[in-house]
Amino acid sequence: MKRAVIIGASSGLGHEVTRLLLDRGYTMGIAARRIEPLEQIKAMAPERVVVRSLDVTRDDAPQALYSLIDELGGMDLFFYASGVGKQNMELNADIELNTVNTNAMGFTRMIGAAFRYMAQHGGGHIAAISSIAGTKGLGAAPSYSATKAMQNTYLQALEQQAAMRRLAITFTDLRPGFVATPLLGDHPTYPMLLNTERVAREMVRAVEHRRHVWVIDWRWRIATALWRRIPRWLWRRLNVK
Ligand SMILES: NC(=O)c1ccc[n+]([C@@H]2O[C@H](COP(=O)([O-])OP(=O)(O)OC[C@H]3O[C@@H](n4cnc5c(N)ncnc54)[C@H](OP(=O)(O)O)[C@@H]3O)[C@@H](O)[C@H]2O)c1
Repeated sequence: MKRAVIIGASSGLGHEVTRLLLDRGYTMGIAARRIEPLEQIKAMAPERVVVRSLDVTRDDAPQALYSLIDELGGMDLFFYASGVGKQNMELNADIELNTVNTNAMGFTRMIGAAFRYMAQHGGGHIAAISSIAGTKGLGAAPSYSATKAMQNTYLQALEQQAAMRRLAITFTDLRPGFVATPLLGDHPTYPMLLNTERVAREMVRAVEHRRHVWVIDWRWRIATALWRRIPRWLWRRLNVK
């Protein structure tokens, strides 16, 4: 029996990945701030799901994670789906700082807690949803793209540290393009918009195949490969939204 913990299971991609892993027979520990959607998931398989309300921006979140893992009886897969993201052309300070607090501080807090647990318990698999937004600095979403680049680099660093310390921890950095989840609002009009369920399926496949980095979908793989080649003098003149 495989045991997975999903942080950010209350909506969007985390919610969908939870459903898929339940279908695959996993025992699940699921967490987010809102408890009600988590209880609804638990109702699908009460004997295989434990829930916790947890806010990744709080210092006590790792304790909540460890008590969840205890109740679950261990953790083979840690799947991190929590995150916030907003366009911020006004450069509103609250939006910028809340994004850093959640996507950088919260991410570091929780991925670190999972890493330390796995280092002491024989290893495991850490998967996290970052984004294609980490590829370049996006003028419409400065802190979002910066924190996603931070997540990419952090996972790469931990992967190397695990190898240096001979720890059996595997990493998967999942980088979707735009996905029609609540994060994008009610009527998203973004280019190459992806379907939540399809993206979640591709994420589960990437985890099962132990991909190190996986961009979703193939069109975004091409787009980001091209973006990377755009020189800085040209990038700053582009109107990317
Ligand atoms: N949608 C896209 O276009 C897209 C594209 C690329 C990457 N991503 C990334 O995918 C991840 C999932 O986003 P989504 O699109 O599925 O959005 P979503 O539907 O808004 O889900 C975000 C999840 O994060 C949780 N969360 C937010 N703040 C939290 C906090 N302080 N503590 C604990 N949990 C928190 C939310 O739960 P509670 O509110 O209940 O706490 C929710 O479960 C994010 O990292 C996002 O950046 C999304």
